[in-house]
Amino acid sequence: MSYETIIYDKKGGTAYITLNRPRALNAYNVRMRDELYEVLGAIRDDPEVRVAILRGVGDKAFCAGADLTEFLRAPPPAAARRARFARDVWGLFLGIDKPFIAALHGYVLGSGIEMSLCCDIRLGSEDARFGLPEPGLGIIPAAGGSQTLPRVIGPAAALDMLLSGRWLTAAEALKLKLVNRVVPRDELWPEAENLAERIKSHHPRAVRLAKQAVTRGLDMTLAEGLALERRLAAQVLYP
Ligand code: COA
Repeated sequence: MSYETIIYDKKGGTAYITLNRPRALNAYNVRMRDELYEVLGAIRDDPEVRVAILRGVGDKAFCAGADLTEFLRAPPPAAARRARFARDVWGLFLGIDKPFIAALHGYVLGSGIEMSLCCDIRLGSEDARFGLPEPGLGIIPAAGGSQTLPRVIGPAAALDMLLSGRWLTAAEALKLKLVNRVVPRDELWPEAENLAERIKSHHPRAVRLAKQAVTRGLDMTLAEGLALERRLAAQVLYP
């Protein structure tokens, strides 16, 4: 499959989604949204894919947020209509029960953070900088971030980031558990590969059910979550 804004590769059960608009610091535009939607569907449906890595090309950025030349312009009526029926990229992303690893370097802004929050494990390089510029631009996060960020770092820290617009260093992001680990820049992609290999060494069904137990359970009461765990565990214990 060949795309304009994304490089999609598959190797040994790992899918690689590489954001590929280096001249615009991998800013997320409408084309990228559509291509991401296709690639995510392919990952969900491809039995060969066991784990996926999301990363960005170029030295400076994983993703500098929404493409300001597209998203902040008033769309003509037809485009506005299309946008209303826009595909639910984030619902699709968050509903896939295969593990996703985000490898984050340089600028990780706006939709960049939000895309990474649809992943399960976030690795940051020492040069990563995290920020949510939306309110300063008169908008709010629209790629799931207002819901996913507080679920990961808690509401107070999420609101601090969002309302103050303050950027975080990699060390600060680690302290808030926005990223799981911080590594030197040249170790970022190898670290993501190692983690993917480790995940793939486990039983694929158990991996997918474990992800479901955690991600679906987060939106449930404890009693509902325990019932979910019992049902999912039964699928591996008594297949
Ligand atoms: N949308 C569209 N283009 C973007 C972009 C974005 N979000 N972020 C960067 N670019 C483009 C720049 O316009 C520039 O293009 P040009 O070379 O044709 O002029 C190129 O990427 C390089 O960016 P530049 O600003 O020169 O790099 P920098 O290192 O000086 O600054 C940032 C980097 C990220 C601080 C700065 O680009 C920025 O503030 N970008 C906008 C971030 C933002 O508000 N995102 C929206 C979140 S909702």
